[in-house]
Amino acid sequence: MVVLDRAAARAKEMDFVHTGPGTLAGRYMRSFWQPVFRAADLPAGRAFPLRVMSEDFTIYRGQTGVPHVVGPRCLHRRTQLSVGWVEDDCIRCFYHGWKYDSSGQCVEQPAEAESFAKDVRIASYPTREYLGLIFAYLGGGEAPELPRYPELEAEGVLEAETFVRACNYFSDLDNACDPYHVAFAHQGSRINVNAAIDPRNIVPEESDFGITIKLRRTTEGGGLRLNLFGMPNIQLLRLPSLDPKETSWREFISWRVPVDDKNYVSFNINLVHITGEAASQFRRQRAEKLAGAPASTMELAELVLSGKATLDELRHKVPDVVRLQDDVVLTAQGAIPDRENEYLGRSDVGIVLLRKIWRRELQAFATGTPLKRWAKPDHLVATNGLAKP
Ligand code: FES
Ligand SMILES: [Fe+2]
Repeated sequence: MVVLDRAAARAKEMDFVHTGPGTLAGRYMRSFWQPVFRAADLPAGRAFPLRVMSEDFTIYRGQTGVPHVVGPRCLHRRTQLSVGWVEDDCIRCFYHGWKYDSSGQCVEQPAEAESFAKDVRIASYPTREYLGLIFAYLGGGEAPELPRYPELEAEGVLEAETFVRACNYFSDLDNACDPYHVAFAHQGSRINVNAAIDPRNIVPEESDFGITIKLRRTTEGGGLRLNLFGMPNIQLLRLPSLDPKETSWREFISWRVPVDDKNYVSFNINLVHITGEAASQFRRQRAEKLAGAPASTMELAELVLSGKATLDELRHKVPDVVRLQDDVVLTAQGAIPDRENEYLGRSDVGIVLLRKIWRRELQAFATGTPLKRWAKPDHLVATNGLAKP
């Protein structure tokens, strides 16, 4: 275990955890497009406060339908801009009516006989709408191309789900590179089919996208499963269905984006391969099922952590127990886990590789040396290695 221990020790030297403005990991994360809001939650003409990586913003959708992300406060008396009015693609402050266009430029100051609006400008950030999500580029300077995922663009029902989990985002990146936890943490769930793997056969490899984790199932005809992790915070999988009407595996992509250092949002997109009348029926039934579901499962996880209930007693309260199981295991590690005192073994090879890559990239970022340009090649696809369920 000497090699693993050394790799783990090196990972400890780098701070992956803190992503506030000015932090190394925060500046690195801001050099990628990040999803910041679910498109369906942002109607035209509405503004909301937004917090991403311990930094505040205003997100609004202009009356033209275009989403915008600008700074959090009006520069006059510093009130919160999200309580103001959206006018065309501008936002007007609720307090004394200063108006800002989508580039952040102040364009009206109703109380000033001699306007100095041209000298007043708040920050603004490029946005894109894709796969049911609003993406923002918070890094400053010219934004790179927004990466595309053709496997999620195919015909079918696209479900965009977001939820906040009360722990550091990196805990879920570790979790994404830890396939063996399925055998224990996800017992009795729809992904149980992924439990039958031999932990000695977990083979992670660095790819152009991030990490490909190869897993051979131990069950007869179990096949080879490929889990893809995309730098810096993406997971791409093929998952078993949630509903008997689904006729094949669903495609799944997820971004884990820090709200602050002790909370993150998971932006989960599922593509279900059904079309036509079957798709309409599926949408209706899903909407009914989700209508009664708790928006946050954190309270349920807290009941388990405090010993007031067991996970088995609560599983009927949620439409998909997988999320609650991960809520429990991830928050049980603490909001910021004590990585200094972990004891990694052979089955943790995915986590070790993840931290090694992150450490290398952060070091390059800190010293201004060229960074790896991550991109998912079309031939690289997540696969379940099984025929249709
Ligand atoms: S605080 Fe915004 S206009 Fe006065
Ligand atoms: Fe999990």
